[in-house]
Amino acid sequence: MGNFLTLKEIDQTAEEVRSRISRKPRVGMILGSGLGPLADRVKNPEYIPYGELSHWPVSSVVGHEGRLVVGELEGQDVLVMQGRTHYYEGHEMDRVTLPVRVMQRLGIEYFFVTNAAGGVNPEFEPGDLMLITDHLNFVGMAGPNPLRGPNLDEIGPRFPDMSQAYDLELMAIARQVAKENDFHLNEGVYVGLAGPSFETPADLRFLRAIGVDAVGMSTVHEVIVARHGSMRVLGVSGISNKANLDGSTITTHEEVLEAGRVIVPKMVSLMRGVLKNIS
Ligand code: HPA
Repeated sequence: MGNFLTLKEIDQTAEEVRSRISRKPRVGMILGSGLGPLADRVKNPEYIPYGELSHWPVSSVVGHEGRLVVGELEGQDVLVMQGRTHYYEGHEMDRVTLPVRVMQRLGIEYFFVTNAAGGVNPEFEPGDLMLITDHLNFVGMAGPNPLRGPNLDEIGPRFPDMSQAYDLELMAIARQVAKENDFHLNEGVYVGLAGPSFETPADLRFLRAIGVDAVGMSTVHEVIVARHGSMRVLGVSGISNKANLDGSTITTHEEVLEAGRVIVPKMVSLMRGVLKNIS
C-alpha cells in the first residue's frame, strides 16, 4: 500500500507544536491567499515557521507566508495558519491535510477556514464575502479523497457523514455578525478543484450549471478531514474575482492577492465577531 500518513507522524508533529506554545488553543484557523494580515491581529503571538516542523507540507506559493501563529484573539486561544499548502504543489491529499490532523490532536474544537475564490454566481462581486453552506468535492468525489488509505480509528469513523459539514450554529452566528457590522454576507456552494490552472469559460459555465457559487483550489479536503475528527467548521470565501463565464476577461494571481486587501477588514470583523460569540 501507499505511503499514507500515520498517526505516529501526526502525533510527532503535534508534540513539536505543543512543546513550542504556551497556550492550549480551542480554535484553529486557516488564512487563504491574500488573507494573511488577519494573523497580525493575534495578541502575544508565538510563531512557528512550517519548515521547522516534521512532516509539514511546505508551500512555495507567493502570498502564502507559511507559519503558525498562536496567541489570543477576542479572548480565545487560537492557532492560525498564515498560509496553506495546496494539492497542486504535488503533495498527496492525506499529507496536504496533515495540519488539520495536528489541530485535532492538539484538542482544537473549532475549525475556521477561509480562502480566496472566484465568484461563479453572477451576483457576486470582487471584495464580497461568501459563507460556505456546502461544498462540492470535485477532486475527491471519484478519486483522491483525503481519507483514502487505512482509517485512523483513533480520530474518526471509516465512513464519516457529510450531511452537515458546515456547522449550522456557527453559520447563524456569522450571519448575525455580518448584520451587526453592516456588511453583506453572500452564501453558497464552494467547489474545490485541483488547479493550478484557472478555469476555462466552458469549465465555469459547467460549474454554474451544477449549482456552484464560488470556485477555488483548497478547503474541501481540509473540511472533510476536520469533520472526520468531529471539529465544528465555519467556512468563508473571499470573492477575489468574477468568474469569466464568457471568456471576456482574464484571471491572475495578482488580482486574487489585491482583492484580499478589500476582503481582509471584513473577514477580520467577521472572525472576531464569531470568536466573541462562541461559548
Ligand atoms: N478560480 C479558482 N481558484 C481561485 C479563483 C478562481 O477564479 N480565484 C481565487 N482562487
